[in-house]
Amino acid sequence: MSVHKEVKKVTTHQLQEMKRRGEKISMLTAYDYTMAKIIDHAGIDVILVGDSASNVMAGHETTLPITLDQMIYHASSVIRAIDRALVVVDLPFGSYQGNSKEALTSAIKIMKESGAHAVKLEGGREIKDSIERILSAGIPVMGHLGLTPQSIYKFGTYTVRAKEEEEAKRLLEDAKILEECGCFALVLEKIPAKLAGEVARSISIPVIGIGAGSGVDGQVLVTHDMLGMTHEFSPRFLRRYLSLYESMTAAFQQYIKDVKSRDFPNEGEQY
Ligand code: KIV
Repeated sequence: MSVHKEVKKVTTHQLQEMKRRGEKISMLTAYDYTMAKIIDHAGIDVILVGDSASNVMAGHETTLPITLDQMIYHASSVIRAIDRALVVVDLPFGSYQGNSKEALTSAIKIMKESGAHAVKLEGGREIKDSIERILSAGIPVMGHLGLTPQSIYKFGTYTVRAKEEEEAKRLLEDAKILEECGCFALVLEKIPAKLAGEVARSISIPVIGIGAGSGVDGQVLVTHDMLGMTHEFSPRFLRRYLSLYESMTAAFQQYIKDVKSRDFPNEGEQY
């Protein structure tokens, strides 16, 4: 008999139960095996293979350049690491906006080739058909409203969205449309806390915020930001749990010094 204890995997259904009983949902990004393993073992509920990989991993200014195949590469690495978390993968820019058939093809490719559990798409009513078509294939969909970085050239700036009444009203309507379509959860990025709380109270699916205040059902951060690896990025909503940029720099400098001074490797560090 095996003594290995089965780890109970997080499901979309469980996230909805968590909302019902008022338990907050924790979500972080990961793009590689090692980071995903640490985050999963720490007990996170959801891992997002975000298209923020375009910025964080590849150094692009926006999320637009990352490709479907690159997202699949990141997602496959994450999937190999996890025992418990639900893994959601962003459909990258250009892989779903064309039409619903293209959206479905992209979602199926991600699910088949990476083994991910769900996909995330940015947008509201304008991508309703695509969301419905993906859902009809049995693929769970997470929505994303507010500051949607794939539309950065439309917005022109990364500042807070939906501060004006008209945009706030449209966002609330879009959230209801996404719920009615059958999305299992919704990310709200960088919108006023009051509006985000109102959205979370108005729909039955979990609302996960980033820069959307405390009145939502869960929180997501970009892991490299919360670890303090991206020290030049300091939005108000970001809580840094470590200052890894500084401590990693110190470690690298010490290594360089040790190599130059012939301190490394010592007698015990060779064969
Ligand atoms: O790509 C990403 O990391 C995201 C989060 C910021 C929600 O979409």
